Amino acid sequence: MSAATSPLAAVPFVHWFRQCTPYIHAHRGRTFVITFGGEALDDPRLPALVHDIALLHGLGIRLVLVHGARPQIERRLADRGTRLRYVGGLRITDDLALACVKDAAGSARVELEALLSMGLANSPMAGVRIPVASGNFVTARPIGVLDGVDYMHTGKVRRIDRDALTAALNAGAVALMPPIGYSPTGEVFNLAAADVARAAALSLGADKLIFLVEGDGITGADAEPASSLLAADVEALLTAEPPPPEELAQALRAGADACHSGIRRVHLIPRGRDGALLQELFTRDGAGTLISDRPFEELRPARIDDIPGIRVLLEPLEQAGVLVPRPREDLEPMIDRFSVTERDGTVISCAALFTWPDQGIGELACVAVHPDYRARGRGDKLLARMEALARERSLTRLFVLTTQTAHWFRERGFEQAAVDALPPERRAAYNAERNSKVYVKDLRQDP
Ligand SMILES: CC(C)(COP(=O)(O)OP(=O)(O)OC[C@H]1O[C@@H](n2cnc3c(N)ncnc32)[C@H](O)[C@@H]1OP(=O)(O)O)[C@@H](O)C(=O)NCCC(=O)NCCS
Repeated sequence: MSAATSPLAAVPFVHWFRQCTPYIHAHRGRTFVITFGGEALDDPRLPALVHDIALLHGLGIRLVLVHGARPQIERRLADRGTRLRYVGGLRITDDLALACVKDAAGSARVELEALLSMGLANSPMAGVRIPVASGNFVTARPIGVLDGVDYMHTGKVRRIDRDALTAALNAGAVALMPPIGYSPTGEVFNLAAADVARAAALSLGADKLIFLVEGDGITGADAEPASSLLAADVEALLTAEPPPPEELAQALRAGADACHSGIRRVHLIPRGRDGALLQELFTRDGAGTLISDRPFEELRPARIDDIPGIRVLLEPLEQAGVLVPRPREDLEPMIDRFSVTERDGTVISCAALFTWPDQGIGELACVAVHPDYRARGRGDKLLARMEALARERSLTRLFVLTTQTAHWFRERGFEQAAVDALPPERRAAYNAERNSKVYVKDLRQDP
């Protein structure tokens, strides 16, 4: 038996596959609009991307693919000894350019349809044949004349034929949309793929709008793609020096607009990284940047609808004897004492502050960080917030009762104290059998 087929080698695979399960369930039946530039069509790795897309289709995701065709259009124009003209970042599509647009979009469609139809044995597409629906889904209008410049056949999306798109998706097809639109007068317009994708996502009420971008997209200090971006911060990126490349700027503009208009998940994923699309969709840390209207992760006061999430966090710790049980009925009346960290809709940490203002003392309780998110400074952040809240309430001391986490608090300025240090009311409720240690922090010291 080779190493690759031994039972031991299978274990990481099984673990990995199980980790994907929640995402597989969450994505089934959802609608994703995925857009990529014409560069993808020229890339020898296009079949790998199409195989990943086919996998998504196989997992029951309703897919709309929107492709660009700029390099192909530019190549055709170059063959004719001319090139696309841009004014103010917008391309001008004259008659010759439009002929190239039609030609390039037609070839791209045939190529993508061929790849999606491929069912070769010994390939990831073995036995798979994906129906593709393409058509006049986009009604467009001309951009017209701006500042005296006639943009000719360059257009804007006017509306999307949602019924036709939905019917195609309901029939199990992948909908393929070129960057082309038609006017009721029978004209053809050259559109930006990002604009088509944004409009299609909005029209369908898509669950995700995904831009497969060239390069790394929006990067953080470590030069890796930033994991999240607030739609409100997009404008600053667009006006930064140097400005982002035009196609990334189009994706950012369209993405932020889609967010403001109600698409909850907009992703920018580096197309050039093999498997990045799957990594973004099926792993916790992803591979790209999520643009959203609300912060992806936020430490905030708890609300009543956080209680189920708080219970999920506390329950295993209560069962392990780390925390004192607090059933749901007890949590409801005290929910305003809690702070939580919400990450992508899930409560991943919580803590509560109970106060005795007349004695200048408070209790820190129910401190918990979800096991998957520990040891990355979230506990410190939570503690800092709870201390700040205590200071705001003019408390001078904060205590905690702990059985297994004494050192964590000691390393953060808490000192062991006698049970007598507790407010009398709290002392009366002290469970001697549990024998928790009392740790107190003097809040008058520097935070
Ligand atoms: C204690 C807890 C809140 C810390 O959260 P966190 O996000 O991991 O905290 P931070 O990232 O800020 O700190 C991590 C450090 O604390 C250490 N730590 C974690 N649990 C500890 C414990 N029980 N005792 C001592 N140190 C501990 C980690 O080893 C790590 O140290 P390192 O960076 O030197 O390796 C989290 O571990 C937790 O939820 N534990 C279970 C619940 C609990 O014990 N709550 C307190 C009840 S009184």
